[in-house]
Amino acid sequence: MKLLILAIFAIAAASAVENYDGPEWQPIDWSKVVPASELPSTWEGTAYEKFAINPNPRTSRIVGGYEVVPHSHQYQVYLVVQLLIFASTCGGSLISHTVVLSAAHCFTNARSVTIVAGAHNIQQIEPTQQRRSVDATGFRVHPEYNRVNVLNDIATIIVPTPFVPDAFVQVIRIAPANAPSFVGFTAQSTGWGRVADGQTGSDVLRGVTNTIINNSICAETYGNVSINPNVICIDTTGGRGVCQGDSGGPLTVNENGRLQIGVVSFGHSSGCQSGFPHVFERISSHRDWLDRNMS
Ligand SMILES: *[C@@H]1O[C@H](CO)[C@@H](O)[C@H](O)[C@H]1NC(C)=O
Ligand SMILES: *[C@@H]1O[C@H](CO)[C@@H](O)[C@H](O)[C@H]1NC(C)=O
Repeated sequence: MKLLILAIFAIAAASAVENYDGPEWQPIDWSKVVPASELPSTWEGTAYEKFAINPNPRTSRIVGGYEVVPHSHQYQVYLVVQLLIFASTCGGSLISHTVVLSAAHCFTNARSVTIVAGAHNIQQIEPTQQRRSVDATGFRVHPEYNRVNVLNDIATIIVPTPFVPDAFVQVIRIAPANAPSFVGFTAQSTGWGRVADGQTGSDVLRGVTNTIINNSICAETYGNVSINPNVICIDTTGGRGVCQGDSGGPLTVNENGRLQIGVVSFGHSSGCQSGFPHVFERISSHRDWLDRNMS
């Protein structure tokens, strides 16, 4: 896939979560959850040879990473996006108590979304979790999102009932408009996506660290239309990186604490672990748009 771009995935046979009846708890019907990367609508009109998912993927999830210390990434959220019949999953981050940041491609044909904050094992009923359901009126998809070349792949969700900050649910700082390129920095990605090409998503939150590379190197793989100054690329040597299911999730660096600098967007159709760079939307390039789409 381009990677994933689509990365989404998910699936799972059954879950006790459906039986929970607490307040603000949105049940997830796992039987209807499929990787967005498997939805034809995700690929309509795209430069398929570059971005499409490999029909026989060999490996995929946060790939080559590790399970994070539970609740050490309190800004990470899990999204179950309701489509007409099926649902798909993505990652996201809390950038205020009423705003989730994610990727535009997660919202193709979306009708509503269930946001899960404070989670570690997404298949369990964790008392730390806070859930909110938001219909399409709360979606702010970048108006210049271009699915052919996957440009401006960024979106926010406005949450009517604020998340309540606690030890498990916290906001992350996002990069300012004048942030550096971050080339050479070590960055971390997190998500519940596939752990290897061809596998399903992870139950527990995983992370991986990679080196940020110059966009001109990245453009050798994807061309200079999809790779413009508004994206960030990482080196994936060693089969480490993001995968289906991680889309929309955060790329962070440590700069006086954790700072989000990117949003998971896409990878290569030959698989998450094929060694090609993975691509993120660059937050500093979108600060004006983000600041205007926080409500
Ligand atoms: C990226 O590479 C190009 C071409 O070699 C170079 O001109 C540019 O300064 C580099 N950018 C950074 C941030 O290293
Ligand atoms: C983009 O790539 C095309 C084809 O390789 C090349 O002709 C063009 O000069 C490049 N544009 C930029 C801005 O690098």
